[in-house]
Amino acid sequence: MKKTIIKGTGRYVPPRIVKNDDLSQWMDTSDEWIRQRTGIEQRHWIPENGGIGSSDLGLEAARIALKRAEWSPEDIDLIIFGTLSPDIYFPGSGCILQHKLGLKTTPALDIRQQCTGFIYGLTTADAFIQSGHANRILLVGAEVHSTALDISTRGRHVSVIFGDGAGAACLEGVETEESVGVLASVLHAQGELSNALMMELPSHKMSPFLSKEMLKESRHYPVMDGRLVFKIAVKRLSHVTKEVLQKANLSLDDVDLFIPHQANLRINEAFANLMNVSPEKVFNNIQRYGNTTAASIPIALDEALEKNRIGKGSTVVFLALGAGLTWGAVIYRFAE
Ligand code: UT7
Repeated sequence: MKKTIIKGTGRYVPPRIVKNDDLSQWMDTSDEWIRQRTGIEQRHWIPENGGIGSSDLGLEAARIALKRAEWSPEDIDLIIFGTLSPDIYFPGSGCILQHKLGLKTTPALDIRQQCTGFIYGLTTADAFIQSGHANRILLVGAEVHSTALDISTRGRHVSVIFGDGAGAACLEGVETEESVGVLASVLHAQGELSNALMMELPSHKMSPFLSKEMLKESRHYPVMDGRLVFKIAVKRLSHVTKEVLQKANLSLDDVDLFIPHQANLRINEAFANLMNVSPEKVFNNIQRYGNTTAASIPIALDEALEKNRIGKGSTVVFLALGAGLTWGAVIYRFAE
């Protein structure tokens, strides 16, 4: 039977570090507030004058993943690119990355599932591999948030959490009878709560689709009902983890490491508490990167492998909730 196997991973963040105290030059905030409420100590942002897109960050992460997988770009059958912050409005960053990789006609697919981008992307990759539509897939999660945040005091409850960065994974269909690779996945969405976390503009239902007045009203910045999303995240992440374990016929004790989306350290702590799993079994790196949305899980995966928190034979649960609302989980087992 064909199994979807991770052959290589990579991550890249822009070198500019923005510490919590640095944010005080633009807004009324404090290191103490941000650490207490979110666990974040710093984030990486692209240079203030811009010029770097999600595809550029994704390219760096992809190059590392390709090298570790011992693939050349020509080996890729399909690119899946998860981002809520594409380089340009359209076409998608997957197409732009394809060109930057020097490829001519390799198909490219953008996934706009925000924080759940890697979970939807991994599930989509698995489905493409299982159906025989592709066998070697480059999955990238990359975000440039910093250029589209309201960094005045008005937007501080949203802006302080987000960071720029990219993670990538090379996925391959391998024939094996072993219980390895993607073992199970569960996806959910609830459009009823799309207003809880959204960026409204530019909007094609408006005419004109962008105006000076709209910009003056700051409708081009993300807005979030943070308290609501926080509460829902803790509940749903716990629920979807139980669902995916049941689907794979595994128990909590079978899991070596949970790699959750890095939205807020307090969410991940509450998840561990509610699930009654030891905090050491939940991987966190939001302290150094902030919330990098679709990039957070592949960055965390790459770091967890590098730090030997996981390796041969490890069973991992990836889980995320974000705008949409969308949420989901994937169980993955590394080969011995
Ligand atoms: O990744 C996608 C999914 N997103 C999430 O999962 C995020 C979930 N939500 C959260 O992580 C939290 O809601 C936030 C960290 C975003 C915000 O924390 P909060 O505890 O919900 O803060 P709040 O917005 O309710 O604000 C509480 C207080 C307010 O002051 P008053 O009205 O109580 O006097 C805010 O004005 O904290 C104030 N505040 C700040 N103060 C200093 C809000 N943001 C800041 C700030 N610095 N950056």
